Amino acid sequence: MSWDPKVYMAFASERTRPAAELLARIPNDAPGRVADLGCGPGNSTALLAARWPHADIEGVESSPDMITEAKASGVKARFTLADVASWSPDTPCDVIFSNATLQWLPDHKTLLPRLMTHAAKGGTFAFQIPRNFDAPSHALMRVVAAEGPWAARLSNVRNINAHTPEYYYDILAPLSSSLDIWETEYQHVLEGDDPVLRWVSGTGLRPFVQALHGAEREGFIARYAARLREAYPKRADGRTLFPFKRLFLVARP
Ligand SMILES: C[S@@+](CC[C@H](N)C(=O)[O-])C[C@H]1O[C@@H](n2cnc3c(N)ncnc32)[C@H](O)[C@@H]1O
Repeated sequence: MSWDPKVYMAFASERTRPAAELLARIPNDAPGRVADLGCGPGNSTALLAARWPHADIEGVESSPDMITEAKASGVKARFTLADVASWSPDTPCDVIFSNATLQWLPDHKTLLPRLMTHAAKGGTFAFQIPRNFDAPSHALMRVVAAEGPWAARLSNVRNINAHTPEYYYDILAPLSSSLDIWETEYQHVLEGDDPVLRWVSGTGLRPFVQALHGAEREGFIARYAARLREAYPKRADGRTLFPFKRLFLVARP
């Protein structure tokens, strides 16, 4: 599955805001070693570098297109092409940070305890994941996928790896001296036509469209776009409100 940094960053400010809000809850003043897991084009890494200019920061990313963009960003960090599922630092990190990435990885019951072992004593493991998979933006992808001629090809296209706060509490509380969990529902105000379609085209819709080709792909997008217009009508001023729930966790070993 490929990523397009430019499509992703069309909503740069909205996508980076949760990273800033997660970062604000990390108490470490001068961490030596920091990791940004799923750093994308380097937008979240830039926040880390601005707060901790003297830290040794590693951005970890599995998409070659994203890492190329991150390397060109000028952010003071090392960028490594690697899979977070098997990533392992040579020395423990003072901060392990991950914004909007871990929902792409399976088996959080194994993954999260493993990442906690890579956090140094006195360090922090902080991550944010979307929790909007039941919202119309994502539910309608599955509905349209199931009801068209493409149903067989799209039946197992994406697993969702985002659980409840209780689920994460049960995994991380036994491993943490402190654990801070919260949810925020943003009300993004989006401009232009089909803004929700443009938003998800940079993220959650990609596995669906990448599984289809030609007229079938066009047909799927057209049907999904029509359903989105009903679910997210324009307001009187021509803008569209896009509610978006996200879950934040800050765990300290
Ligand atoms: C939604 S973007 C988040 C980018 C950035 N952290 C931000 O705050 O906007 C998710 C990123 O995670 C990367 N990713 C997904 N699965 C990954 C994995 N298993 N290992 C490393 N990176 C992964 C994707 O390539 C993508 O760049």
